[in-house]
Amino acid sequence: MITYDYTNLLYSSKIPTGITEARILNYMHLIQKAHEEIQNDRKKDIMGFYELPEQNITRILDFVKKEKDNFDDFVVLGIGGSALGNSAIYSAIKAVKPLKNLHVCDNVDPYMLHDMLSKINIKRTLFNVITKSGTTAETMSVFMIILEILKKELGENYKKNLVITTDQEKGFLRQVVNKDNITSFIVPDNVGGRFSVLTDVGLLSSAFVGIDIERLLKGAAMIKPSCENTDIFANPAYMNGLLHYFYMTDGKNISVMMPYSNPLYLLADWYRQLWAESLGKQFNTRKQQIMVGQTPVKALGTTDQHSQVQLYVEGPNDKVTTFITVENFKHDYKIPKIYLERDEVNYLAGKKLSTLLNTERYATEIALTEAGRPNCNITLPEISEETIGQFIFMYEVQTVFTGKLLEVNPLDQPGVEAGKIATYAMMGKKGFELENKTVDKYNEFKKLNKRII
Ligand code: PA5
Repeated sequence: MITYDYTNLLYSSKIPTGITEARILNYMHLIQKAHEEIQNDRKKDIMGFYELPEQNITRILDFVKKEKDNFDDFVVLGIGGSALGNSAIYSAIKAVKPLKNLHVCDNVDPYMLHDMLSKINIKRTLFNVITKSGTTAETMSVFMIILEILKKELGENYKKNLVITTDQEKGFLRQVVNKDNITSFIVPDNVGGRFSVLTDVGLLSSAFVGIDIERLLKGAAMIKPSCENTDIFANPAYMNGLLHYFYMTDGKNISVMMPYSNPLYLLADWYRQLWAESLGKQFNTRKQQIMVGQTPVKALGTTDQHSQVQLYVEGPNDKVTTFITVENFKHDYKIPKIYLERDEVNYLAGKKLSTLLNTERYATEIALTEAGRPNCNITLPEISEETIGQFIFMYEVQTVFTGKLLEVNPLDQPGVEAGKIATYAMMGKKGFELENKTVDKYNEFKKLNKRII
């Protein structure tokens, strides 16, 4: 099981801005209220991610069994919640077992598309378009390019290389699925995009490349009881959410996630979206303007010790740092016993690389703590499907719980919609003519105020 060490988020002689136990105890009624609101949302069937560990995955497993030998590469076309989790799980598990190639195209950068196309054999590639809404401009534009290529290369057989994951009923892509009889999977209506990695969204690509998705869900199921525990001192998701909430209200508006392992770096990317999009809100649920949120930042240990840690230790005390530690490494190296006569490096001789990595992690914890900077640590006994499933589930619960404490809706993203609408207007999408006026006004403003060097 993963463990959560929050010693250095609490008040102590070393962390004078830390959270006192009395403050936590004073909050018991609000913790209970947040818990009850989550249970109500679950009853109303709008927080479906809670029930995903117990879902039936037979259809995915059957599909993969039938198709896996027909393809060498799997390409995800999606963005945000329809892509970040896929990349994160793949990057983590690829470190511990050989997997087929997964390419995640989550941008409309022509270079990115060119690079992906240069690496694959179209005929031996399965493309999975993932979009809950079925309309996202980035995903749809790349999909249309791929569709044309597929039709050109494969003729009517193009459908064999295409799978669409979208809403069960709504959206343009569901109509495409129905009309053209294309294989499809589902983004459940009751699971929001950034909470959907343990649905068909993340499970299909994972299973296809060789990740054991039963173990992924087992991991989520293993941590679920503690994430539902009303005793906050036994609930890592609630405790981490509460402590981050306190720090946010105290003005520590930056949350650094710093895995000490390259394969886990993309988990921090996944977390960035979850934390930023769920909690960064202008209005609370009572429509009062509150403008809350905490800026998630990713860093990598040890690499960023030589780039960011100077700032974290001596710069503004405005951050809460979360380390991610791996205890046991499947692949490891011993530093050879050479240069034994040289004191500059002979202390390294005979030590494992993972020992150095984790010693440096602990040393950074000491440095931050001695400088009075709050930090916590999540330890994974090893990188595996179970531990990644646990991490994902814990952070999803932590996010909605923190949203409840902040009194915001952690499931919506009105700020993202605003950008989408302006894009639609400028790209000439029908029905968005009125929004063009806003764009025109902005263009006028820009013209009058332009300062370019
Ligand atoms: O969390 C969310 O809802 C968003 O980040 C979406 O995942 C993202 O905008 C992509 O949306 P869609 O899956 O509809 O293409």
